[in-house]
Order: sequence, then structure tokens, then C-alpha cells
Amino acid sequence: MCGIFCYYGKENTFETIREGLKKIEYRCHDSCGISVSNGNTETVRSLNSPDNLKLPSISSIQMGIGHTRWATHGEVSIPNAHPHVYNHQSLVHNGTIANHNKIKEEIKSLGFDTIGDTDTECFAALTSHLGSLSESLKRITDRYAVAWMTRSKMFISKDRMSLYVGQYKDGFLVCSDLSVLLEYTNKIMELKDKKCYKICWTNKELVFKTHKQSKQIEENNTEDTFMMQEILEQPEIIEGIYNKKRTRYHQSFSFGPTCIIGSGSSYYAGLIGKFMEVANHVICASEIDSYDLNQYRTFDPYEPNVLKALIISQSGETADCIRAIESISNYNHGGGAVEEIYSLTNNLQSTIGKSTMAIDLLAGPEKSVCSTKTFTAQLAHLMMCSYMDKDKYLPEKIQIILDNRNIIEGIPVSNNIIFIGKGSQYPIALEGALKMQEITYLPALAFPAGELKHGPLALLDESWTVVCLAPEDDNYKKMLLAAHEVKARHAKIIAITSGEEMKQLADYTIELPKTSEIESTILTAVVVQLLAYYKAKKLGRNIDRPRNLAKSVTVE
Ligand code: AGP
Repeated sequence: MCGIFCYYGKENTFETIREGLKKIEYRCHDSCGISVSNGNTETVRSLNSPDNLKLPSISSIQMGIGHTRWATHGEVSIPNAHPHVYNHQSLVHNGTIANHNKIKEEIKSLGFDTIGDTDTECFAALTSHLGSLSESLKRITDRYAVAWMTRSKMFISKDRMSLYVGQYKDGFLVCSDLSVLLEYTNKIMELKDKKCYKICWTNKELVFKTHKQSKQIEENNTEDTFMMQEILEQPEIIEGIYNKKRTRYHQSFSFGPTCIIGSGSSYYAGLIGKFMEVANHVICASEIDSYDLNQYRTFDPYEPNVLKALIISQSGETADCIRAIESISNYNHGGGAVEEIYSLTNNLQSTIGKSTMAIDLLAGPEKSVCSTKTFTAQLAHLMMCSYMDKDKYLPEKIQIILDNRNIIEGIPVSNNIIFIGKGSQYPIALEGALKMQEITYLPALAFPAGELKHGPLALLDESWTVVCLAPEDDNYKKMLLAAHEVKARHAKIIAITSGEEMKQLADYTIELPKTSEIESTILTAVVVQLLAYYKAKKLGRNIDRPRNLAKSVTVE
């Protein structure tokens, strides 16, 4: 999603910012721009990659602000890209401004008649009119990260979104992505919410602390996509998690009534948490506003109030999850409230990581938009929260699947795809369909196997592929029934199984190593990742950066 990268410094300023923007490209964007100043300001903007930005014509540049935009208000276009410039003052902004229409009316009445479609333009014009970022921020009620550059100074501020400053060469870097900033410097300053910071050559206020370097992805890996690289890392990551001691948060979360909240794949991981007996309730973060929290009370009369919540968020920046934290923190009904909020995140320094009792996902940075290793790491951590026995050979079993991935590559998957599963495999069916939609752009579906006969069977003919998630668990026999129904409608069956009867029915089999019922979800998750990956590859899709999506979804 949107990203900010600024440099208050004189050494190769434009190129430094352009390189910084390229490093945050993995978060996904549709347009970008940079404003630089040597006392006069020049701004360049373009669609797509920062490589498309023209070099500015001014020399002796002293500073600049840059941005990658992911469209929310207003279409993808160069005029809608940041920075927005009024009176030689440029502004870049992450977040959305709900009251921008009101600001727009006011600003227009003041003579700013060039305001286009975006909320940020209103904010930029207002800031320029007031001549003060701190004054204009008083009018913004939403979460934000912002940088504003006048002819000689830079001002930055944030509220419940990420923005960091680091000491770099002769000056300072400002970036919304900590892992990117750490590639330049470990002298980092954390900004306080709602405080406005001024950066200028005489500035003495900024205080920097040495920050621990996070683990970086090997850039010289032989795999041609981050997604495949990240899929292949899974045995090592799961081994690392299983070999670590349970933290005090793993232990304390798993005691008493609990609720798990997440979005997308993280929500599906949460659904599996219910089968691991670590949660009574699982809620999709984007639904929490409309969700009646009183349902907690009626669900189990002997446990009248849910007292603990676990937010699962790889990025730790998902806006729906942050909103959910705000909602549940304010919830207090009948004397009970959500008293302890835990999180499972890959970024302890993120907004969610810092505002909750955070468990480190320990998956290393994930660059592909499509979650793979972080999803299975989430499942492994949920296992660590539970008291179930763990299969110490699980990493080897994942490795067996990976070593045989050429079999999965060779399986033809049609363009009409349904994933089916039962019990704890149903969330993996959902995850498989999500992976498939995300990177192939095909309308893949997922159903609990028993639901086929209640409607979806009408779809099936020989043009469909049905992926059956069928470990030999308590649901296996029912999965066989569903597979028979599919076979009778001439759809092709891909079975992920170790069961002989299922293999007989299937057109294609992906051999599933045996493990506990619940840990089978980690194995089948790896298989559905590979199925989606190879289908997307055959279709020539941009696997790491699928259209319209962002790695970190920082708007509601
Ligand atoms: C998964 O492949 C997706 N990219 C997406 O559904 C993701 O899981 C979701 O946006 C939640 O992200 P988070 O874990 O960073 O909160």
C-alpha cells in the first residue's frame, strides 16, 4: 500500500529517495512521485515503478520527499499521485481522510480551485493555507503518516501508522517501513503519535537509539520469485518455532475464554485456532464493527465474558485489525471487558506489535503479497499456544512435499476451481481459494465438502477441477462421499491425501505425509500454495505483485 521515503540530506538526494521507494515497492503501489528542493521545489510523478520518474532539472538539492501510492480516493493517475504541491510546499501522506469533502469545500472557497479527486490534495492545500502542519493535523481525525516539505524545512508526523526517522550520512531518512530503513541505518528514532517533528539543519531535538537489525531475505537466492523462495523456507521456519520455548504470552493466552481476530489468510489461520482449542471465537477483523460483541456472553453461559483476544496480523499494520483493537478495547458489557489483547505478528515494531502483548512470528520478512510462510508460521504458533502434542518430524514432512513439487507442477488445473475440505481442513480450502484468486485472477471457490450437494454441485461438469483436502482423519469417509459426488458429475479431482480409496477416485493425487489431524493443515496449506503458484506461473501472472492488491492493507 502507500509508502513514504524522504531524505533530508545533500548526498545524491534524488537517487537515494528513488532507491528507497523501490525498496518499499514490495508493499505494492500504482503510482509514485518525488519532490526535491534546493530552495526552489521541483516535483516528478509517474505511474507504476519509481524507475519511470524523470530526473529533476534543479541542482544542489538539499532534501526531498517521496511516495508510492495505492489508490483509495480517486483513480490511478499521475495527477492523483503524491506529492501534492501548493505554494512550493509538498506533502506526502499515508492513510485516508474521512472528512475530506468538508475540507475540500472550505479550501475551494479560499481560492484553491485545482483540487482533484483525492483526499490528500485537500489536506495538502489546507496545510499550505494554514502554513503549519501541526495546525492542519488538528482537523484530521483518522490515522495518518505524513511528511510536508517547505522550501527549507521538512515536517513529519504520524498517528497510529508507521513512520520512522533514521540518521543517515549527512542527514536524516524518513520511512514508513522500518525493515527498509534498517537497510540504511540502525540509528532510528521512534515518533510519538500526533507530535509534529521539524527537521532542519540546526535541529538538535531528534534523539536516536540503536535499533536491532531484523533478519533480511537473501536477495541472491536462485528462485525467481519471492513467493517460491518463501514457500521453500517453511521447513526451517516451522522447525525454528517448534524448537523454541513457549513464551509467557503463548502460555497465558491459552488459558481461559479467548477470541481470535484477523483478516484474509490471518483470519483463516485463526479459524484453525478453534480446532486447536485455543479460541472460543474467531472473528474476521473487517466484520468487527458490525459484530455484536454481546454474542460472547450468550455463546457460553458459564463463561459470560471473553477476556482475552489474539490479533493475528503478519504485517501488524492491517487497518481492520487496528480498528478491531479499538473496538474491543472499548467494549465493556455487564461488568466484563476484553482485558488482555495479545498479537501474533511478524513485526514487533508495528502499530499492532507495539500496542498489544505481541508474540514474534519468527518467519523473517515476507516480500510476496501472497502470504505463505507467515500463514504456516501462524499455525505453528497456535500449536505452541495449545497443549496438543507436536509432531517433531513435521519440518521433514513439509520438505517431502517440497521435494516432490514437480509432481504438483505437472498437474493440469482448469480455470474453474473448487477447494473442498471438512473440519480443520475447511479453512485450508478457503486459504487455497484465496491463494488461487490472488495470484491467478481466477474465481476459485471453497466449500465445506458436505455443502456441495446443497448448491455448488450444479456448477460441476468436465470443465471443473475440485481439489479435495482429504487427510485420513475423522472426516475422511465423508470426504470420500463428496469425491464420489464430484466424480459422478465428471469434474476432475485433485486429491491431497494418503488414503487409498481417495487415490482410486482421484484423477491426480498429491501424496500427503501422515501427521496429527491438526498439523495436517500445515501440510495441506503448503500443497495449495504450490498449486496456486504453478497455475499462476502457467498463466504468466505477476506472482509477487498481483494486480490491485497490497502487501500491507493500511486502509479500512
Ligand atoms: C494473503 O495472501 C493476503 N495477502 C491477505 O489476505 C493477508 O493475509 C491479509 O491482508 C492480512 O494481512 P496481515 O496478516 O498483514 O494482517
